[in-house]
Amino acid sequence: MPHTDILLGLQWGDEGKGKIVDVLSQSYGVVARFQGGPNAGHTIHFDGKKFVLHTIPSGIFREECQNVVGNGVVIDPVRFEQEIKNLRAAGYQPEKNLHISLRAHLILPSHRLLDAASEKAKGIEKIGSTLRGIGPTYMDKTGRNGLRVGDVFQADFEQKYHRLKRKHLDIVRPLDADAHIDPNEEDAFFAALDNLRSLNCLNTEYFLNQKMTEGIPILAEGAQGTLLDIEFGTYPFVTSSNTTAAGACAGLGISPRCIRKVMGVFKAYTTRVGSGPFPTELLDETGQKIRDQGAEYGSTTGRPRRCGWLDLVALNYAVMINGVTDLMMMKSDVLSGFDSLNLCTNYLNNNTLSSQMPMELDQVVPHYTTLNGWNQDLTQTTQTEHLPSPLLKYIDFIQQFTQTPISLVSVGPGREQTLFL
Ligand code: GDP
Ligand code: IMO
Ligand code: MG
Repeated sequence: MPHTDILLGLQWGDEGKGKIVDVLSQSYGVVARFQGGPNAGHTIHFDGKKFVLHTIPSGIFREECQNVVGNGVVIDPVRFEQEIKNLRAAGYQPEKNLHISLRAHLILPSHRLLDAASEKAKGIEKIGSTLRGIGPTYMDKTGRNGLRVGDVFQADFEQKYHRLKRKHLDIVRPLDADAHIDPNEEDAFFAALDNLRSLNCLNTEYFLNQKMTEGIPILAEGAQGTLLDIEFGTYPFVTSSNTTAAGACAGLGISPRCIRKVMGVFKAYTTRVGSGPFPTELLDETGQKIRDQGAEYGSTTGRPRRCGWLDLVALNYAVMINGVTDLMMMKSDVLSGFDSLNLCTNYLNNNTLSSQMPMELDQVVPHYTTLNGWNQDLTQTTQTEHLPSPLLKYIDFIQQFTQTPISLVSVGPGREQTLFL
């Protein structure tokens, strides 16, 4: 049966998707990114090396695996070229197993200008955007003004580019009369388009469906996480794409009938970068301990990540929205050395205890169940039987609560630090 499995984040991003896609990519012929852009930072560790991918799918390190940047992704040609250069410098030939959708939208320098202006205008209510131009690019896409990869092959591309740039400057100038695009940035943009033109740009929806017809399984790689989804996330503190399972069909051009597994990746605790509500956030030394032990600093912007306990109300919501078939628990090793661990099982909202995710999260107070912690270092563990019993109870509690099996537990950033249950 032709099929695609989806792997996506269930929290506010940075769950460890990149690591798991890299680990699983040996079982798939194709890895395909379906949304987001260079706001993502997917970290992969192997053979003592570390790579952070932003737009390129995490299957790129396996030569035999084809990698697709789908139509739902937004591409910044300059950052994209830099990513390719980094891979080449490390001895890889990404042009050989990378395919880019002609329908993917382009991030222009003026989209980044708009992103910065929008955040500045919001003041303390800012989203905490990565300032990569993501929101304005998706706005132009849905507003039917955007430029796509396919356009760069047309003779009138420059004309279209300047028209759109002028439009952006007209929006920004009332807020900032001096707003302009640095000519060097513009030159870099046009130079990077030459790189883009030299790559395999095609109708990837045909490529992907043909692969499935040949019996080659596809792994769809999500970026960000469910709670940053434009529909179901903590709006307006979200990103501008569908990070959820439905986004994989629209962002790749594959039918829902082809979807087999939906693998949901979550951290054994919770983190968030940027603004917005976070009920289980720990602003005390426990939160700092998680940040220190988990090295919780953004892969894209280097910002310290906000840390807190695992939120099972939010996790259950994400399991439901995505139809998760398998859960994958990351960074279990980071929770070693806590006497006890809290798991949020209900929200107190307007004096009522509820296990549902409300539209507004600002006012909810988390209610916790407390389980015993463990002290054992997990990073060298290779067999599930050797995991400490409080961790096995923690895993079991989550499985019972979500009514979903945990099929993988990660105990470190490396490929080999992965236990299959
Ligand atoms: P992604 O955006 O979902 O791919 O996740 P990021 O790469 O932004 O952040 C996850 C971070 O945790 C990276 O630095 C990974 O190397 C690291 N990581 C992944 N899995 C584990 C794990 O099980 N234990 C530890 N300690 N680190 C991990
Ligand atoms: P990966 O794929 C964590 C957050 C930003 C901000 C909000 C909107 O690595 O998990 P945007 O730049 O999209 O307009 O920012 O979303 N954000 C992420 N947080 N991981 C990510 O990606 C993120 N991509 C965006 O911090 O709060
Ligand atoms: Mg990340």
